[in-house]
Amino acid sequence: MSTTNKGLFITFEGGEGAGKTSQIDRLKERLSSNGYDVVVTREPGGTPGAEIVRHVLLSGAAERFGSEMEAILFSAARNDHVQNVIKPALDKGHMVLCDRFVDSTRVYQGVSGKVEMSFLKTLEEIVCEECWPDITLLLDLDPKLGMERANQRRGEGEVPDRFEKEAFEEQIKRREGFLTMAKKEPERVKVIDASGDIETVSKRIWNAVKPILKARGLKTA
Ligand code: TYD
Repeated sequence: MSTTNKGLFITFEGGEGAGKTSQIDRLKERLSSNGYDVVVTREPGGTPGAEIVRHVLLSGAAERFGSEMEAILFSAARNDHVQNVIKPALDKGHMVLCDRFVDSTRVYQGVSGKVEMSFLKTLEEIVCEECWPDITLLLDLDPKLGMERANQRRGEGEVPDRFEKEAFEEQIKRREGFLTMAKKEPERVKVIDASGDIETVSKRIWNAVKPILKARGLKTA
């Protein structure tokens, strides 16, 4: 799918502990200081309705329905999010930074949940036909390091969500899944080495984002 977005739609993907949240904050600061209006959002969620679906999904309440039905629920939440937050912001020419989007469904429900890719593509067409990421930043990290970071971040007594509690081997499969996706769509999906400190990774991200801003004739001071 190609994009005709007036603004720029940037999605962040990666496994647990890849540092998406800190990097989204950094990129937001950088873009804002360049004078852009920036909307930060996340999936599943981003609207009141989608946040309710998020709770159902992450609590594990929908696990019994199977991965295909979970994919439908993620897509329903996404549809609300696209229609009410992402698309309106892009139409105004804003930059939208979204923590996870379609690639997470492809990897978590497709690769891990074994849902057919053709089924997921049909859902994508229904949900995102008019709203496709201009660039996807895949924060790639050895799952061992990612889990260490995620465990440190998780507060005492906090339990992992439905997807975080899955086995380590699954995290390795997901990393491979994300990397395969990046190989299939190298124009859109940029692999960012997420090892190293926040500053180093944020420079890598800025170097990946700059060309698309330049290509659109936008400022990159
Ligand atoms: P979140 O707390 O936002 O985690 P993270 O910090 O890892 O982004 O939880 C979102 C969880 O939902 C995460 O484990 C990935 C999973 N997920 C899917 O399985 N499919 C999807 O389509 C999306 C968007 C997320």
